[in-house]
Amino acid sequence: MTAGPGAGDALFDNEDLAVDLPPEESAQNAGVVDVAALDPALADPDAVAEAVAPQREIRVDEGEALLRTEGLTVKFGGLVALDDVSFEIRRGEILGLIGPNGAGKTTCFNAITGVYKPSGGTVTFDGRPLAKTKRNEITRLGIARTFQNIRLFGEMTALENVVVGTDARHRTSVPGAIFRTARHRREERDAVERGMALLEFVGIAPRAVEKARNLSYGDQRRLEIARALATEPKLLCLDEPAAGFNPSEKAALMDLIRKIRDDGFTVLLIEHDMRLVMGVTDRIVVLEFGRKIADDVPAAIRENPAVIAAYLGVPDDEPA
Ligand SMILES: Nc1ncnc2c1ncn2[C@@H]1O[C@H](COP(=O)(O)OP(=O)(O)OP(=O)(O)O)[C@@H](O)[C@H]1O
Ligand SMILES: [Mg+2]
Repeated sequence: MTAGPGAGDALFDNEDLAVDLPPEESAQNAGVVDVAALDPALADPDAVAEAVAPQREIRVDEGEALLRTEGLTVKFGGLVALDDVSFEIRRGEILGLIGPNGAGKTTCFNAITGVYKPSGGTVTFDGRPLAKTKRNEITRLGIARTFQNIRLFGEMTALENVVVGTDARHRTSVPGAIFRTARHRREERDAVERGMALLEFVGIAPRAVEKARNLSYGDQRRLEIARALATEPKLLCLDEPAAGFNPSEKAALMDLIRKIRDDGFTVLLIEHDMRLVMGVTDRIVVLEFGRKIADDVPAAIRENPAVIAAYLGVPDDEPA
């Protein structure tokens, strides 16, 4: 991360500001951080974007399939939540995954990220089959996600929540962590620097030392995205990131998702809001009752009779 002369080292050189503030102290300090005073580099959007950009090697070329599902099937007892679903996510694109409630969107995320073991089919990520790959290993391979219901460490500060995400990637041994070796201190400082840059990137750096549970709902959603980005994912999966947002918050979120893609990430987006999905995605996969019913560019999806029928759904006089 080269962010102008000396900027890399300047970010958060003061270790006293690091993550291990005791809870009482962080509560007292809770308030607004003047980001530019903390480090001038954080006031420069280009420097921030540079610090956030993924450094990781990706095997597939731009535009090739980064992730591919083939015949992906997930069953819960008698219920087929995902039924023989094949699609691909190309590197560098924003792919929308839509469908009515219960269509299988979150299940698809869960199958991709190793939460559920598929009953059938395969998932290939960056040239590698994910069968039998454990959840934390999938994170390390480069798939990160946010959750439909926000999951944050409420008693930790915003910055600490992001640094926890960074930890998934930097591995100091336990003895190293206990004795606070030079390497561990350096890793910790890097994580804090990157954490601050990520908070700035998603637009909540001034709230860095606020406890996550005290953040506004919208800021919590942004914090979840920052935490997912902290794992340096090749693929970022967002499960209804705009749920509960008003129109201006939705517009701001669309800008953020575009910025994330422009910074070199590939994005899989589950979203109910059609305007948002149509406005931000390159391609859309539509699920209904666990099956894929369409896979096309937004303009074609909008006109697709099967999609329109799925959304207009059951006539009002019939029970859903
Ligand atoms: N752990 C589970 N055990 C049993 N059934 C489940 C489980 N998870 C999901 N399902 C069922 O699988 C189907 C698909 O659910 P899923 O959560 O994937 O839908 P979705 O498209 O994300 O819907 P929504 O838009 O409401 O979030 C639903 O019928 C749901 O009830
Ligand atoms: Mg869902």
